[in-house]
Amino acid sequence: MDPMPADENGLSCPRSAGPAVDPVRALALPTEKVSILLVDDEPANLDALEAILGDLDESLVRADSGREALRRLLKQDFAVILMDVRMPGMDGFETAVLIRERQRSTYTPIIFLTAAFADETHAARGYSLGGVDYIVKPFEPDILRSKVAVFVELARKTEIVRRQSELLRSVEKREHEKELVGTRAAFLADLERKNEELERNQRILEEKVRELARANEDLEQFAYVASHDLQEPLRMVSSYMQLLSRRMQGRLDKDAEEFIEFARDGAARMRGLIEGLLDYSRAGTRARELEQVDCETVLEQVMIDLSAALQESGAEVTRDRLPTVPGNAIQIATLFQNLIGNAVKFRGAERPRVHVGVEAKDTEWLLMVRDNGIGIEPRHLERIFVIFQRLHTRDQYPGTGIGLAICKKIVERHGGRIWAESSPGRGTTFKFTLPRQGESPGPEQAAGAAAS
Ligand SMILES: Nc1ncnc2c1ncn2[C@@H]1O[C@H](COP(=O)(O)OP(=O)(O)O)[C@@H](O)[C@H]1O
Ligand SMILES: [Mg+2]
Repeated sequence: MDPMPADENGLSCPRSAGPAVDPVRALALPTEKVSILLVDDEPANLDALEAILGDLDESLVRADSGREALRRLLKQDFAVILMDVRMPGMDGFETAVLIRERQRSTYTPIIFLTAAFADETHAARGYSLGGVDYIVKPFEPDILRSKVAVFVELARKTEIVRRQSELLRSVEKREHEKELVGTRAAFLADLERKNEELERNQRILEEKVRELARANEDLEQFAYVASHDLQEPLRMVSSYMQLLSRRMQGRLDKDAEEFIEFARDGAARMRGLIEGLLDYSRAGTRARELEQVDCETVLEQVMIDLSAALQESGAEVTRDRLPTVPGNAIQIATLFQNLIGNAVKFRGAERPRVHVGVEAKDTEWLLMVRDNGIGIEPRHLERIFVIFQRLHTRDQYPGTGIGLAICKKIVERHGGRIWAESSPGRGTTFKFTLPRQGESPGPEQAAGAAAS
């Protein structure tokens, strides 16, 4: 706190404490008394000054030397200083120099009072010190009083301005703080709303996932049972067809033989579909235990299994050094076999070149099977993963449309994602992710992922 009993403009009141400014006080003319410093070595002169200025009803402070005046100025500020020029020790001019040197009193008006040095030079010296007036003794009391009154008035007005600007600052600050508080509150409310919405959506999503998992389980169960039960009557159809064609060999006309051939072909195709369906429904349910699967070993085995197709097409298969991943070896083999098999099957005019690549990401492996085959139109890139969805007839390319659906199921069962990127006519890249060591889902989670 400021120890000064008077404020910057010489008002002899304690400054109001704290940052809050009283607006009434700030806007009214200050009523507190103003301090005036009277400096003279002659007590009689001081008495005379007091008598003349008494009418002003301000606070008069006496100092009987320059030194005493400086001491007073250390304690408080003054609206104006009346100073005798001729004093023993430090004279009025020397005192004024020291007063001007102090920052707080640099601009305090000084009125020099003198009888003895009333010539131009001394007056000029007084002004160059920044004193604002110079009065020769014996002075006219009314003139002196009215001069002092001007400075008193000035001090009061300066004080008003100071208080008003302080008020303005504090009002601005309060407005700003209010604004800040408002903005923060709005922001928090918004955040809370968004959070609630997010939580609600999250709950809905979780419920949907559970529903989907249940529906999928039912469907799998159904597919398994149905395909299993369909196999028996189908076997009967094919074997009696076979029997029929053998028994009637040479006794039927060309048309009849062709019809039997169509029927046998249809039955064979149906068997393929049912087997595919069985494979598909098994892909999610079989072998839920996770083991460390070395993809290098898996791929070598896959290459052996595919050797006929690879040789026939003259395909060249290259690969990066593949990682060991937590998973099921048989399923990962099926995954690679389907993808590489497709890459070779859907080849273009060029000799098929297939590359199996891998990139290590933060928490997962990004694996890819790239080919230089016929490619896939962008609008089909998603539906090829749906069971039985094919983009070609069986005459163009053999198949049942189950392979990618199984791939998707296997990847998701392992906690990853699968998708395809392609430029038609130039080739396709199938990409899938698998969790890295340590971040792999536990068997429980893996089982859950399989069901969804
Ligand atoms: N590497 C590939 N290049 C071009 N098309 C592909 C490729 N892999 C899959 N496809 C398209 O996706 C369809 C579905 O593939 P998939 O499920 O393996 O069934 P299938 O191989 O029995 O046709 C294919 O019929 C084919 O149209
Ligand atoms: Mg396939």
